[in-house]
This record gives sequence, C-alpha cells and structure tokens, in this order.
Amino acid sequence: MNRKLELRTRWILVTGASSGLGEEMARSIARDQGGNVLVVARRREKLEALCEELRSRYGVQAAFIAADLSRPEDVERVFTEATREREIHGVILNAGVAYWGDALKLEWSEFQSMLNTNVTSLVRLSTLFARYLVERGTRGGLMFVSSVAGFIPVPYQAAYSGTKAFVTSYGQALTQELRPQGVSVTVFAPGGISTEMLDRTGLSNRFKSGDLGMMSAADCAAHAVRAFIHRKELYIPGLLNQTLTLAARLLPRGFLAQRTAAMYRPER
Ligand SMILES: NC(=O)c1ccc[n+]([C@@H]2O[C@H](COP(=O)([O-])OP(=O)(O)OC[C@H]3O[C@@H](n4cnc5c(N)ncnc54)[C@H](OP(=O)(O)O)[C@@H]3O)[C@@H](O)[C@H]2O)c1
Repeated sequence: MNRKLELRTRWILVTGASSGLGEEMARSIARDQGGNVLVVARRREKLEALCEELRSRYGVQAAFIAADLSRPEDVERVFTEATREREIHGVILNAGVAYWGDALKLEWSEFQSMLNTNVTSLVRLSTLFARYLVERGTRGGLMFVSSVAGFIPVPYQAAYSGTKAFVTSYGQALTQELRPQGVSVTVFAPGGISTEMLDRTGLSNRFKSGDLGMMSAADCAAHAVRAFIHRKELYIPGLLNQTLTLAARLLPRGFLAQRTAAMYRPER
C-alpha cells in the first residue's frame, strides 16, 4: 500500500492522550498535519484542556471521550460514540499502563487492569475500527503503540513486557491480513520516553531524562506520526533502540533476560 495516510481535516482517534506520548501525538497531528483529533483517556479535565488548546491554536476540530479502557463497557462506548457523529480515518491505540517491581508483588487486580488496558481493549478497538475502515474503503490506518520491551523478556517488568510482546506480534500479523483490504497497521515500538509512566512506576529513579536513549515525548511523537503517515509496518525510533531490538532478535532470549535483570532489579 503505497499511498501516504492523509490526516488533514480527517478525524484521528488517539487513546491515552491525556499525557505523555498520546498527548504529543494528538498535538502533532493537529499542529503539523491539520488533522482533527478525538482523544480518549480517563482524566476528563486534561482532555478538555487539550481539545481547547488544539482548537484555538491550530484551528482544527477536537473532541474527547472520557473512558476507562480497562472496563469492557467503556471500550464498546468509545467505538459507538466515536463513529456516531463523525467519520474516523485513523486510530492510534496508545493507552497503556506499566508495572515495575517483583512479579510476585503485582496485585492480581492490577495485572487484570493492565491486561485489559494494554491488550484486551486494543484487540477489541482494533477489530471494531478495522471492520469499520474496511467497510468504508477510504484507505484509513491503525497504529498500535508497543515498546522495545516487547522484544525482550524484561525481568521486574515481566507482565508489562509480555503485554507489549503481544501487541507487537498481534499488530504485525494484523498488518498482513488488512493490507489487501486497504487498511494499514503500524506497530510503533519506542524505548524509554520521559513521561508520567516513569514517575508512576518509579522507573524515573532508575532512568533519567537526558540518559542515553531516553526520548522526550514530543520527539517520540514526531517519529510516531511520521511512521503512521508513511504506513510503516514496524517502526522503532532512535538508533540505540533500533540496535537494541536488532540484538534482541539475534541473541538467545535467556541471555537477554539475564542481562536485562541486572538493569531492572529494584534496590532492596
Ligand atoms: N514511557 C516509556 O518509557 C514508554 C516506553 C515504551 C512504550 N511506552 C508506551 O507508550 C504508551 C504511552 O505511555 P506514556 O509513556 O505516554 O505514559 P503516560 O504519560 O502515563 O500515558 C499513558 C496514557 O494512557 C492513559 N491510560 C492509562 N490507563 C488507561 C485506562 N484504563 N483507560 C484509558 N486510558 C488510560 C492515560 O490516561 P488517564 O490516566 O487519564 O486514563 C495516559 O493518557 C503506552 O502504551 C506505553 O506502554 C512508553
């Protein structure tokens, strides 16, 4: 599928847009591409403020849906509300949560919520929107935000890296199924990004902004939007991350996990 994904005046849905990478992707779509954005997350006031900013600064249309993607009923509502009054042309499934610490200390409810948000909602929304885009025949696109952690079994992020391994595998497989039907699927797999996620997990004590390979959310978003527009099947931003994932595909997984354990082991 050669033709670029056109975003100007089209509606693009971005999940997880109340902070970090999602917020910056929404900003980049509005500012640099003239696209209309429909943003989704739990924090209504953040989404409201972002929409107001994008409308007034960049003259695009912007709307939001406050939803908890760990709840199946909210996931269904996002699709229904998103498609009720507007034609959606692109969907970026970016919302995600992480956990850093001993696997045995991860609360069961927290694991289920992570699985629902990172995996189940992504499969459900991508299925609903892919059917919708195929039916319309408008050559729309989907993008899934995965992670370098999806290529490596990351000790102390065992469940999180597992969810991202799923996202990458599912996305790359779906790419092949949907391409003949005129819909592109991009898997975007960044490494460390300086966002609230690092603060929330405590990883900001281990990896600092300015460290080698750490990206700002705005820089990372610029890579992501470019990959989406060019309908890249798999895109890993940054030379260090590209080298890491190449090594991850060549080296034995046990060795990788062992080396990564030393980097991620929390202090006792
Ligand atoms: N930061 C990194 O180092 C890094 C590296 C590789 C990949 N990634 C991936 O990049 C994506 C964005 O993360 P980020 O770094 O930008 O983190 P972030 O700033 O914490 O953003 C996460 C976004 O997801 C939303 N979200 C979380 N749980 C949700 C739920 N149950 N329902 C709806 N929305 C939910 C959050 O909004 P609300 O809290 O308002 O709901 C927020 O907008 C994630 O998929 C993450 O796994 C991050």
